[in-house]
Amino acid sequence: MVENEQNENMGNKKGDAEEKPFSAKVLHYVMDPTRLGEMDKPDGHAVITGPCGDTVEFFLRIFSNRIREIRFRTTGCFFTIVACDAVATMAEGRTVREGLRITQECVLEYLEGFPDDHKHCALLAANTLHKALRAYLIRGRGL
Ligand code: FES
Repeated sequence: MVENEQNENMGNKKGDAEEKPFSAKVLHYVMDPTRLGEMDKPDGHAVITGPCGDTVEFFLRIFSNRIREIRFRTTGCFFTIVACDAVATMAEGRTVREGLRITQECVLEYLEGFPDDHKHCALLAANTLHKALRAYLIRGRGL
C-alpha cells in the first residue's frame, strides 16, 4: 500500500495492512451531513424500518419530474446517516426515473469503502428513496 492510500485510509494506523473500515469520503459525510432534516408538505415521502430495527424517512421536493430537494431523518447509526446523505446527494437534480435506478451498489461504489457489517444501511437508504419516489408517482404527479 502506498503512502497516499494509507492517508486516505482513515480507519487504519499507518502501516496497518488490514482492510480499511471506511473511506475518507465516508468521513466527510459523517462530519457534514448536509441533508439531515425534515420538509413540510413533501411531494414524496416514505418511512422504512429495516431488519436491524433502525428507521429511515425521506422527504422529496419534486418539480417538472426532477428531484429538486431531499431531506431525511433516521434513528440509525452514523453509517446510516452517511448512506442517506449520499443517496440524497446522488438523487438531487436527477429525474424520478434516474432516482429509481440508485441502488445499494451505486451508493457503496459512490462512498468508495464501507464496512461490511453496515452495507445494509445503504440498502435501507436506497429502498426508502425508491419508496418515496413510488409514493410520488402513485399520487399521480409523475412520468
Ligand atoms: Fe441499522 Fe444502519 S445499523 S440501518
